[in-house]
Amino acid sequence: MKPLVAETREELAAARADIRDWPLALVPTMGALHEGHRSLIRRARKIADVVAVSIFVNPLQFGPGEDLDRYPRTLDIDLRVCADEGVDLVFAPTLDVMYPAAPEVRVSSGRMGGIVEGVHRPGHFDGVLTVVTKLLNLVRPTYAVFGEKDAQQLALIRRMVRDLDLPVEIVGCPTVREPDGLALSSRNRYLSEAERRTALSLSAALRAGAGLAGEGPSAVLRAAQGVLDEAAEADPPLSPDYLSLVDPVTFTEVADGHTGPAVLVVAGRVGATHLIDNVSLSFS
Ligand code: PAJ
Repeated sequence: MKPLVAETREELAAARADIRDWPLALVPTMGALHEGHRSLIRRARKIADVVAVSIFVNPLQFGPGEDLDRYPRTLDIDLRVCADEGVDLVFAPTLDVMYPAAPEVRVSSGRMGGIVEGVHRPGHFDGVLTVVTKLLNLVRPTYAVFGEKDAQQLALIRRMVRDLDLPVEIVGCPTVREPDGLALSSRNRYLSEAERRTALSLSAALRAGAGLAGEGPSAVLRAAQGVLDEAAEADPPLSPDYLSLVDPVTFTEVADGHTGPAVLVVAGRVGATHLIDNVSLSFS
């Protein structure tokens, strides 16, 4: 069955009124849907009676010189994916619908939004949290489903829900990968074959690091860094942005002596494409 597609606030409000108080799970996306998004939709289907997907490329979370203009926009194909996955409602607003006026008041991601990925993308997480808040207020879901692929985004959304008492339950889903380890991303379609080979070094670095979790944080970082150093010499090269071992909740760095969970996060550019990945570890 085809999903109901709402493009305006009025259409969304009418669809929302029909749903009444049935449990609804929202999967926020920027479109160019792939298997990672599909896995979120399937999780949503399991936990709620009604599944909604939002599709909106949010300019507020792109910095100057980033890929806002070339970000893939494939609404017709995305709607087919949603139909295929049994999505009930798609909210696909235009820019004017989402931002009738340039937003003056925004959500601040605070210290946590300025570290790790935030160092390289100033303002990015403020833009994410602002649009997610708007989507939650417009759709009013019981659950909102996000991928662990964007681990800092997920941690910040959980933190925002706690700090601002937002009435929603956040559900995280594991990262979906290609058989060779590359994490699925809408940005992978920018990669040439040679760039894709270099991009594999990100997940390879994470695997190398995770394999040494028994030896502590420094050993993990050293092993992962070794793989990145090699990739920096490849053709085309990887330009690493960061490799860091952080607390999964606060995203502050952990060091030797740390016990319990941690996330090894990595990001880099291949050609003009910015890619991120992470893996969860535990130190005993
Ligand atoms: P987008 O990059 O389209 O991702 C939408 C959701 O899909 C996010 O929760 C993301 O973590 C998840 N996702 C992406 N790749 C994945 C993979 N390989 N495996 C599992 N989940 C994956 O993230 C955004 O959009 C935006 O920032 C958004 C939250 C929609 C706000 O604009």
